[in-house]
Parts: sequence; structure tokens; C-alpha cells
Amino acid sequence: MQAESFLKLCAAQVEARLEAILPSPNTRPTELHEAMRYSSLAPGKRIRPALCIACAEAVGQVNQAVIDAACAVEMVHAFSLIHDDLPAIDNDNLRRGRPTCHVRFGEAIAILAGDALFAYAFEVVSKMSAPPEVVIHSLTTLATASGSGGLVGGETVDVTSEGKPVDQSTLEYIHSHKTGALMSASCEIGALVGGATADQAYALKQFGHEVGFAFQIADDLLNELSTAEALGKAAGSDRARSKATYPALHGISESRTAASEAIDRAFEHLDSIPNPDTLVALARYSMERVH
Ligand code: IPE
Ligand code: IPE
Ligand code: MG
Ligand code: MG
Repeated sequence: MQAESFLKLCAAQVEARLEAILPSPNTRPTELHEAMRYSSLAPGKRIRPALCIACAEAVGQVNQAVIDAACAVEMVHAFSLIHDDLPAIDNDNLRRGRPTCHVRFGEAIAILAGDALFAYAFEVVSKMSAPPEVVIHSLTTLATASGSGGLVGGETVDVTSEGKPVDQSTLEYIHSHKTGALMSASCEIGALVGGATADQAYALKQFGHEVGFAFQIADDLLNELSTAEALGKAAGSDRARSKATYPALHGISESRTAASEAIDRAFEHLDSIPNPDTLVALARYSMERVH
């Protein structure tokens, strides 16, 4: 299936489930619940849930637990975006075509909505209807990918590198941690819940890591070359904040080559996967996307 159609299908399933499981905006604290819904239900591409579902499909079955896992990775992502946009981090006003969470609800509620989404993601995984060993492995994978050795670690080095000259190894650290880690976990968890063998889950974890790496290079290129209108978020801001990005360190053409090489490496991990077609399409989309 084409990447765009698959993303649409996954978005519909994941948004319906998120709508059902997120705390009601009528339940106290209402403003917190409204903010959690505002950010996670805003129109994102849902690439992490799509990778999670596609990995389950590639090795076995998509069931309710796979959709719950897909919702959990999207909630961790939504948490990371809310905090990434805060004045103390990237200080952005536009996200998914709307005012950022802190602009709409104030900084305190935005910080707390991020915290609550992060915690709820783990609650959802802990309660999904899968064998206990799969639940535990998924919890560990999601925690490792999110924390100081993953997304939060990558965000930290991204922020502390602002305005400084960075070398290739620091740039690779930032991209593989702030973005590669959660995409890799999305794939591994989808595979596990879908019934993958240990070898298949490991292959898909590595596949996701490379796709995430390319996805972040594409994000850097779009920030440099596209517009806020097309992206639904700031453009030109990486250069303005002297961020450590691929285009800043290597220029446009070399950055495109680096993304394409990462996708070639991703494909090398699909040899043992029975139905890899959708994954191939999602990997290409990650690099070629226009928003
Ligand atoms: C934005 O992620 C942050 C990065 C890791 C590049 P997405 O590009 O997946 O954002 P949404 O979910 O579509 O808004
Ligand atoms: C993306 O950070 C990674 C996370 C949010 C964890 P960026 O700052 O590069 O992404 P955008 O451009 O704000 O979406
Ligand atoms: Mg950032
Ligand atoms: Mg940002």
C-alpha cells in the first residue's frame, strides 16, 4: 500500500482509540485533560503509530493491543512535542498548524499535560491485552527509548549544542536519540505485540532506528527549505537558533545523500521479514515527505 493511504488508515484507527481512552475534558482537572487532548489529537502524520502497526502486520496480526501500543507511542511523541516547543527549549508558537500547547493553555498546563501524556502512555501499555512477557518487554523498550539514553537524552544534547560548533558524532547522537530511539521502539513494540520472533523484533528495531535517523534529516531539510504554511510549524528556526542540523554541518545535497544512505541501511534489516512492502513505503516516505 502507498505510504499516504496507510498513514490515513492508521491515523483514523489511532485517533478513534485515543479519543476513547484519553481522560474526558469534563473530568477534573478539566484544563489538563483538555490540553492532553488538544495536543495529541491535533492533526499529526501519525508516522510512529503507522510504523508500529506496519511492523505488526509485517510479521503477524494487528489486534487491539497493537492499536493500544500505537496510541502509547503517539502519546510519548505528543509529550515530546509539547515540551520541545516550550520557551525553555525551542520556543515555538505553531505546531500541527495550531498554536502550541503553552501558547493555548499557558506554560504550567503545557508542562503538566506533557508529563501526564508521558505517564499515561505507560499505563496504556501496561494494560494492553498481550502476554505478560510481551507487555514487560514493551514497557522496557518504551522506557529505554524515552529516557536519558533515548529521546530525552537527544533533546538534552540538542539544546546544549545550540550556538556551538558540533562534530559529526554529536550530530549523529542528537538525531539517533531525539528521533531514532522512539521510531525504533515503535517498530520493535509493534513487532513484539504482532507476534514477531526475537530475531524479527531485533531486525525491526534496527530498521526503525535508521528510518528515524533519515526522518530527522528530512525534518532538518524541511526546516531549512520549506515554509511554516506547508509544515504547520516554524520554518527557518533551526538556522535562527544555530541548531545542530545536517544542512548546517553538511549542506543540502550531502544531507539528502545521508538520509538516502540511512534508508538503504534500513532496508538491509528487512530480509527476514515476511511482508515488508508497507515498511518499505513508509521508509521511503520518511525521507521524501514534503511536510
Ligand atoms: C516532529 O515529528 C518532530 C520530529 C521528531 C522530527 P513529526 O514530523 O512526526 O510530527 P507530527 O506528529 O507529524 O506533527
Ligand atoms: C524533534 O525535535 C524531536 C523531539 C521533539 C523529541 P525538533 O525540535 O527538531 O522538531 P520540530 O522541528 O520542532 O518538530
Ligand atoms: Mg527541538
Ligand atoms: Mg522543535
